Amino acid sequence: MALALLNSRLPIVAAPMAGGPSTVALARAVASAGAFPFLAGGYKATDALAAEIEQLRPLGVGFGVNLFVPSRATIDRTVFAAYATEVQPEADAHGLRLDPVPVVDDDDSWADKLALLIDRPVPVVSVTFGLPDRRDVAALRAVGTRVLASVTTPEEAILARDAGVDGLVVQGPDAGGHSATFDGTRTPEPVDTAALVARVRRSIGLELIAAGGVDGPDAVRRLLAAGANGVAVGTLLLRTDEAGTSRTHRAALADPTFTETAMTRAFTGRPARALRNGFVARHRGIDAYPAVHHLTRELRQAASRAGDADRVHLWAGTGFRNAPTGPAGEAIRQLAAPSCFTS
Ligand SMILES: Cc1cc2nc3c(=O)[nH]c(=O)nc-3n(C[C@H](O)[C@H](O)[C@H](O)COP(=O)(O)O)c2cc1C
Repeated sequence: MALALLNSRLPIVAAPMAGGPSTVALARAVASAGAFPFLAGGYKATDALAAEIEQLRPLGVGFGVNLFVPSRATIDRTVFAAYATEVQPEADAHGLRLDPVPVVDDDDSWADKLALLIDRPVPVVSVTFGLPDRRDVAALRAVGTRVLASVTTPEEAILARDAGVDGLVVQGPDAGGHSATFDGTRTPEPVDTAALVARVRRSIGLELIAAGGVDGPDAVRRLLAAGANGVAVGTLLLRTDEAGTSRTHRAALADPTFTETAMTRAFTGRPARALRNGFVARHRGIDAYPAVHHLTRELRQAASRAGDADRVHLWAGTGFRNAPTGPAGEAIRQLAAPSCFTS
């Protein structure tokens, strides 16, 4: 099945990866190889996102921009302060003092980013962590943008369809990084991504992009056979030349002492899949996104700079063992074995 919605040559999508890995260079490289690229708008200042968009636009290819839908979780300040105390010894290792007062007003500049994307339209906008208001979806569609919502259950898929989006990213729990779940307090239950795609396909007629746990061309083929119109990969691009992944993260993905991934809310307060390192083993975390992201951010940055992989959020999907080095275009070509397109 072709990926008509995104209009790319291959039914392969370079998933948005905020926090560094998604770069303009990565987007260019995967687009040149025939895949559909995403820029990651999450965590980024609006003007920095605008600059990336204008660097990519002249390429004349389709591309998408991903945004985080603000979460409305209420934060228990006592629980938060207790977690700050629990994590402080980790920060001591880098000479840092954690702030026990939660950041409660961070909406990742949602309104500014939306205004940018309406003023300077892009081909595709995808959202994660929930659904925008129907009128925001309509405003994006009115300027010619296709809107995709990330979903993790058939129920979320129905809500997204009813909000008026053009297509869905169906993310299984094997995916690296944050779960797209609308409810950050929920721990996504283990389910095979292909089975999830097949379930969503039964009730939804929209185009579906499958994401989560892809470890090679066979997985791409399985997801297409399950009813996906395209397949998104994140982890398999993390070690490529054009990705902005940190040295510490790249090295950890290839380090044999990391043998598995785990779903954790220890780093940010929202479930995310990461290599199981010491920090994941020592802390269960709490439900308080993005306050916990802010609590641990400086510590994680310092640890990353120091090569202390034990205290970094090493986002990784279950396919991490197969993440190749070298040009991203080559990684895309390896995934796009001819057998992918016979379903
Ligand atoms: C380092 C990293 C950062 C991510 N950041 C985002 C993001 O900003 N927005 C988003 O919708 N998904 C994000 N994700 C999830 C991916 O978009 C995608 O769903 C996931 O990578 C697919 O699973 P895979 O990693 O097993 O290929 C991220 C994943 C990783 C590994």
